[in-house]
Amino acid sequence: QVNQIIATCMSLGMFVSINQRLDAETLALVAEEFGYTIEFVSAEVVESIIEEEDKEEDLQDRPPIVTVMGHVDHGKTSLLDHIRQANVIAGEAGGITQHIGAYSVTREDGRQITFLDTPGHEAFTAMRARGAQVTDIAIIIVAADDNVMPQTVEAINHAAAAGVPIVFAINKIDKPGANPDRIKEELANMNYLVEDWGGKYQCQEISAKNGVNIEELLEKVLLEADLLELRANPNKRAVGSVIESSLDKGRGYVTTLLVQSGTMRVGDMILSGSHYGHVKAMFNERNQKVDEVGPSEPALVLGLNGAPQAGERFNIMEDEREAKDIATKREQLQREQGMRTKKHITLDEIGRRI
Ligand code: GTP
Ligand code: MG
Repeated sequence: QVNQIIATCMSLGMFVSINQRLDAETLALVAEEFGYTIEFVSAEVVESIIEEEDKEEDLQDRPPIVTVMGHVDHGKTSLLDHIRQANVIAGEAGGITQHIGAYSVTREDGRQITFLDTPGHEAFTAMRARGAQVTDIAIIIVAADDNVMPQTVEAINHAAAAGVPIVFAINKIDKPGANPDRIKEELANMNYLVEDWGGKYQCQEISAKNGVNIEELLEKVLLEADLLELRANPNKRAVGSVIESSLDKGRGYVTTLLVQSGTMRVGDMILSGSHYGHVKAMFNERNQKVDEVGPSEPALVLGLNGAPQAGERFNIMEDEREAKDIATKREQLQREQGMRTKKHITLDEIGRRI
């Protein structure tokens, strides 16, 4: 068999050895000679890490992960800012708040909620496109002095397609032209009947700007979370998703990770896509150092040797060798797939470039 392939390669003008890796284009050509077509799968799929299934008794309650989505100017940022500020516990307020793309708040009763604080839509779509399901609950915000707008509809459709429960926040009720009933009616026309109209969708009228009814909104989010019975195993190596990543001049690559199960600790060996590295330090959004990050908790992590993409999965590996090994294989596969899409350059073109 192998000899046949080598012979075919030779007939195509390629002199190959038995353990040589072929680029995607060559593979396709050779396969064609044998009457096959090749389907290429992504590097992450080929070199995926098999994650253990958790036993029922290892599972513990975890906080819900919430995304706020809505039309431009309807108040996403105002709502997230208000929640963050209102929940900064006295004494912690001194820390410089940095944007890390996600933050976790602890309420008076001790219950935690994690908010993804990335430009709602884009993050949600980018992550879904990469197959990452990070959000448990979506808050869809609609300004009461406006209408259900195209982006509102889009946000609702995204959440519905992902099977994520929706809580509606009807915002800007302090404004003179506010008409929450009009919004409820428009939602009803889309078959989203809110609870106080006899439907199944939780809805809260709020003013993000003045901080009115925000606690009530969060109560409804937690009620929705209770129905989901969110649980994860904290007692294993961490697994989760990349929220965002960038290169910082002073600190190297800074990556916000959201742990989805297990616990991540300083010193752990992270692998995400084709990047890896020991966790040098971890910070929360108040720029405080943290040593451990559990299920549903985000952290800004220093120590990766590159910037993985938002939505990429991360795993904690046994040691550096194992991480490097897989990272290298993934990189190689990516390169080979890259070649497939690269166009041939003719001598004529090279001539013109010189
Ligand atoms: P984009 O990020 O641009 O899509 O907007 P956004 O959804 O984040 O809205 P943002 O929070 O920036 O609010 C838009 C404008 O509405 C700002 O001028 C806010 O001050 C104002 N605003 C937000 N919430 C309220 C509210 O409850 N009442 C009033 N009166 N104004 C509000
Ligand atoms: Mg905003």
